[in-house]
Amino acid sequence: MIVCHCRNITDDDIHSAIDWMRRADPETLITPGKVYRALGKSADCGGCMPLFLSTMRSSAALQIPAELRGLRNASAVGGQD
Ligand code: FES
Repeated sequence: MIVCHCRNITDDDIHSAIDWMRRADPETLITPGKVYRALGKSADCGGCMPLFLSTMRSSAALQIPAELRGLRNASAVGGQD
């Protein structure tokens, strides 16, 4: 299914890019801009962004690894000393 008509990006392209980024760096934060860059493209009109984000969220590889979740809270607690 075409997600971005301006740049001809499909849902499979988005999932493949996310999978590739997660394999390359398990700790990376994956953003729409990084997906565009991984595909060698850049956003144009931005009209696809709601569907683009929804497609990204449907990818299991988008999630931040469980061991890295909550680090912000942990560092805030540690910073109160
Ligand atoms: S439809 Fe994706 S940038 Fe225009």
